[in-house]
Amino acid sequence: MSPWSVSRLLDEECSQQAEAVLRRASMYLEGRVVGTVAACEASPDVQNYRECFVRDFAVSAAAYLEVGETEVVRNFIETVASLHPDQAGSTIPPADGLMPASFTVERDDNGRECVIADYGQRAIGRVAPVDSALWWLLILRAYQNASGDTGLARSGEVRAAIERVLEYYLRPQFEMLPSLLVPDGSSMIDRRMGVHGHPLDIQVLFWAGMRAGLELLPEDHELAGPVFRRLAALGRHLREDYWLDRKRVEVIRRFPVEEFGTLLANPWNLHPDAIPVWTMAWLAERGGYYAGNLAPARLDVHFFTLGNLLAVSTGLATPEHAEALFDLIEHHRRDLLSDTGMKLTYPALEGRDWYLLTGSDQKNVPWSYHNAGTWPMLLWPLASAARVVGRSELAAEVVAQAAPRLAFDDWPEYYDGPYGGLIGRRSRLEQTWTVAAVLAAAVLLEDPEAPDPFAFARDEALEEAIAAAKPDAVDRVD
Ligand code: GLC
Repeated sequence: MSPWSVSRLLDEECSQQAEAVLRRASMYLEGRVVGTVAACEASPDVQNYRECFVRDFAVSAAAYLEVGETEVVRNFIETVASLHPDQAGSTIPPADGLMPASFTVERDDNGRECVIADYGQRAIGRVAPVDSALWWLLILRAYQNASGDTGLARSGEVRAAIERVLEYYLRPQFEMLPSLLVPDGSSMIDRRMGVHGHPLDIQVLFWAGMRAGLELLPEDHELAGPVFRRLAALGRHLREDYWLDRKRVEVIRRFPVEEFGTLLANPWNLHPDAIPVWTMAWLAERGGYYAGNLAPARLDVHFFTLGNLLAVSTGLATPEHAEALFDLIEHHRRDLLSDTGMKLTYPALEGRDWYLLTGSDQKNVPWSYHNAGTWPMLLWPLASAARVVGRSELAAEVVAQAAPRLAFDDWPEYYDGPYGGLIGRRSRLEQTWTVAAVLAAAVLLEDPEAPDPFAFARDEALEEAIAAAKPDAVDRVD
């Protein structure tokens, strides 16, 4: 019997098939499983899908940790902690503290196994993966929660890696805001999509990664203070400035513009026309969500699913925002959910926007892949967030409907179309985070009381600090 068949959402055959793909995805180093390849499909056109991606492994880790299989996660954490960007062979290596998008095990000239990491120097998007180190921190914390092993985070190489990452992510930049300024395509969306600047998905991961860091370090560690202060400022900024609902849109539509000084009604200098018509229709009735991106004169109102869902499970979203987000998801269910997963972004970039912002990317054509494609892997963050707001039924219904369809289609990476009905034109099959998401989501939804190793409880001290935090760039007139 499969350890994941505890969930009644999956029939035995489905969970066995999913488990078989997950196990087959195992990547070995010196006889130990240290990760999972992104896809098991045997086609020659798999490119880098035979590598272990750090972000993809988070979903495998969730599936393994939920059924008590902790060793593979520990091996992964140690393997990634041992990698350094100066091994990448780039003329200008990225700073230590960046973790790779992916790695693979190869044999050197002497026949010895060695790990080769990709920091973006080989990837098609050629961009540094800002999200990897944040995912790594979250995986380490989840491992600690699930196994009770607090020793790993204290061991030499792992402790050093935590410190490197936190120091790097807290380093002052060319920046006036508490959010991270990042290049386009530096997270799950790893090709040009116009998501440079301060994209929500990365800001929420930054928040979550810093929260994990705080739990992993001793209380009196010298980084604990700076991490806590950044969390307070970031929490305030994301909750107040990114949030969109009908009330907020009405305020933005009446903003004065071109104000000078420090006491402003419209510190972002947003022009009312920054709100596209579809948003007015979307937000007129119910609900709200965190905008996709924000900086002066730049409000991207696209809906980014991963950031919004993780905001709920990592405690960034206030209880009111979390409720409103699920109201929105339920209200726009046909736009966002289908029996194959959830839209990664909404709506699609079309016409001239697609042409300019994606660089006319043929893989990111409208309603495909990152450009409003439907991703089964999002069932995992959906399940995790739904539990927090007591809407497990919604997620359970979607997972129960999706699982047999995904199994029938051989576990595709993504689906195409405004309603996610067609297998993605260039989708891989036997995609590991597709099977892992179904397994992990099903276990989470089976027992809403069972611990979710990736979720965060409310932290009163942090809540107080957020409430007391001042806006950084400017003072607002409220
Ligand atoms: C694609 C996705 C990326 C994922 C990788 C492996 O590049 O955009 O998010 O990590 O495939 O599945």
